[in-house]
Amino acid sequence: MTACETPVQVNLGSRSYYIHVAASFEELPNVLAPLVEGRRCAVVSNPTVWGLYGGAVSEAIVAAGGTPVAVLMPDGEEYKTLSVFERVMEDCVTAGLDRSSVILGLGGGVVGDMAGFAAASYMRGIGLVHLPTTLLAQVDSAIGGKTGVNLVSGKNLVGAFYQPRAVYINWKTLASLPEREMRAGFAEVIKYGMIADAALWELLEETTAPVMAAISAHAPLPEVVGEIIRRCCEIKAGVVAADECESGVRAILNYGHTFAHAIETLTRYRTYVHGEAVAIGMHAAATYAHALGLCSAELVARQRAVIEAAGLPTRLPRVNVDELMAAFARDKKARGGSLTFILPEAIGRVKVVHGCDESLLRSTLTALQA
Ligand SMILES: NC(=O)c1ccc[n+]([C@@H]2O[C@H](COP(=O)([O-])OP(=O)(O)OC[C@H]3O[C@@H](n4cnc5c(N)ncnc54)[C@H](O)[C@@H]3O)[C@@H](O)[C@H]2O)c1
Ligand SMILES: [Zn+2]
Repeated sequence: MTACETPVQVNLGSRSYYIHVAASFEELPNVLAPLVEGRRCAVVSNPTVWGLYGGAVSEAIVAAGGTPVAVLMPDGEEYKTLSVFERVMEDCVTAGLDRSSVILGLGGGVVGDMAGFAAASYMRGIGLVHLPTTLLAQVDSAIGGKTGVNLVSGKNLVGAFYQPRAVYINWKTLASLPEREMRAGFAEVIKYGMIADAALWELLEETTAPVMAAISAHAPLPEVVGEIIRRCCEIKAGVVAADECESGVRAILNYGHTFAHAIETLTRYRTYVHGEAVAIGMHAAATYAHALGLCSAELVARQRAVIEAAGLPTRLPRVNVDELMAAFARDKKARGGSLTFILPEAIGRVKVVHGCDESLLRSTLTALQA
């Protein structure tokens, strides 16, 4: 049985949808047919990803009975803006999209967030399909319905919860992904193992090093990559189904992220890509949890070994600890008043902890810089 025959369901009542995890675009026409037949389909993408996979996706849309049109945005986080969003909307008008049309997001998280917000907004909402092509997008951003753009004042400040009708992951597209992006995506994979799944964790302990070696050598991606992605999708789908709008259990997906956001802010988003900051953040969270007596030193060491096998950093950059504490406080304000840390208790199990032990946190952060 191929992975595509048993899709992962995101259970949201009448808005439920399936995530198809496949090793090619072969099954895409079958998945798209009920969604696009007789409709105009705007493929929102960027020139990089469109150049690699636009042809295959257009062919699949045609085979499914739809009419493809490319709507391209420039490549880069700096283009996830309202002005580019406006251009995308105008291009949808020019392409003749109506209320029965469909937007397909083909690319990483930037394209997916833009495509999702476009689908949520165009004529007050049209059909959306995600075709994620980065590891981060495949295991994280394409699932769960968060869409939006950045403002100068901050990231992701404008947007909507808007669920796709389907997600189709051809994980073989990762073969062309730059190595640093692949490693960064692995941080989110490691996160899923630690927060929810000891069996996935053991698989990662076995396979992270050989998978990374294959990537460095530009060798074919091992099949286990598809299995790992599928398991991450199941975990995220389960969490999202339980808490669509992030009022409760969905917070565990932020494991490592309180630290990561502070590190990203203090280094002005220049030093690390997101996944690298998350890796440092997970190591900081586990070290702090151990200092609090919540988890064993063995857990900290096992997590560190997998992070390092993925070629990701664990050392906290030399930033002022007072400034880090101030960044936590700003994050707390932005999130509505409660400083929250997701801390591991055992592999596959985390605890949501409100507030902090300030002196222990400060000494942990100082020690991590040594
Ligand atoms: N909506 C959510 O729930 C959610 C969750 C996490 C992150 N995000 C957002 O996701 C964005 C980051 O996404 P990302 O890490 O995927 O970065 P990205 O979208 O910028 O993609 C990284 C780079 O890889 C290129 N690329 C994509 N697929 C490729 C492929 N298969 N082969 C070769 N190159 C490829 C892209 O063109 C880009 O240059 C951020 O804007 C973040 O806010 C959203
Ligand atoms: Zn993240």
